[in-house]
Amino acid sequence: MNKKIALFCVSLLLGTATTQAQKPTLKETLGKDFLVGAAVNVDIVNGRDEGSADIVRKHFNSIVAENCMKGEEIHPEEHRYNWTDADKTVQWGEENGQVVIGHCLVWHSQPPKWMFTDKQGKPVTRAVLIDRMYHHITDVVTRYKGRIKGWDVVNEAFNDDGTYRKTPYYKIIGEDYFELAFKFAHEADPDAELYYNDYSLSNPAKRDAVCRLVRRLKEKGCRIDAVGMQSHHGYDYPSPEEYEKSIKAFVAAGVKVQMTEFDINMLPRPENFHGAEVGQNFQYDTKYNPYTKGLTKKANKIFEQQYLNFFKVIERNKKDILRVTLWGVTDATSWLNDWPIHGRTNYPLLFDRDYKEKPVVQKIIKMFEENR
Ligand code: XIL
Repeated sequence: MNKKIALFCVSLLLGTATTQAQKPTLKETLGKDFLVGAAVNVDIVNGRDEGSADIVRKHFNSIVAENCMKGEEIHPEEHRYNWTDADKTVQWGEENGQVVIGHCLVWHSQPPKWMFTDKQGKPVTRAVLIDRMYHHITDVVTRYKGRIKGWDVVNEAFNDDGTYRKTPYYKIIGEDYFELAFKFAHEADPDAELYYNDYSLSNPAKRDAVCRLVRRLKEKGCRIDAVGMQSHHGYDYPSPEEYEKSIKAFVAAGVKVQMTEFDINMLPRPENFHGAEVGQNFQYDTKYNPYTKGLTKKANKIFEQQYLNFFKVIERNKKDILRVTLWGVTDATSWLNDWPIHGRTNYPLLFDRDYKEKPVVQKIIKMFEENR
């Protein structure tokens, strides 16, 4: 290659590099208003998915563990904790300048299974469950005291009609398990923010139930900083108007709001399917997996429009929002490929299977820049 051509190639390469470097990132723009986060799995923090790790470093300033801090993982037996992955996640977050969020202390799914029964397999008494819940919350929160900014203390405690979900915590302890959990968490790390987290919170009955909970916790003197709206949305739900009404209702009840598990399920759903109950499962059928070779143009338009509709609501309410976290990094590893039907090809996130930023990212960024 002669010198001139070589120089030309170098300048071309540099040119591309500069254009890419100049594209604003999510954390540079949305990050001025609230934390922008992603749920990370163990592959990311253990160096087995560097492509996703790079995206997190570049675009996000906050992480949450997708699974490894849940009861069944971190506390598999009464007198045995498994700290390895959770420790690694917190350390990785710190080394990469991320604000680390804890998920989650009290939840009916993926729970520490031993917690609710005695050696004979019979339900434990109220006093025993309170004691076990106390030790679990105290040990986990204390271990990361000062290193985790806030905890999802109770996750998914209401049914869609706003009644209490009849979890073992509810059945054995009664409705005061909420305040006990929040008190135990606060005692263990008085500086940590504490959250109530749930899905389908655009639903008016559930919204009202959560507002009642927030008010009750406050009356009882508990610390609660925010309601986490999981935001597991679909290509045609929920209504952005109802989503916004919920944000405003939670703020009126006296807390901040955060979008904690944002994604948009682009695939058709079985009848009677809604929400994000991880225990739900349906039989695979090709009719539920129509985009194995990529979204159609029409579907992609709907995908972008959904993202823009919800981020418009988020933008309008940014002063009341603490954090927006995507539930995963790229489409390749999203939980929505396997839930509620195993083995599908879904497109719920902002980065594609080749680790490339989707065009909607810059559209969201532009929306925030234009409204500054
Ligand atoms: C999901 C994880 O993404 C999956 O890997 C796991 O198999 C099941 O749980 N609501 C929550 C999250 O609060 O913890 C769930 O995460 C998704 C629904």
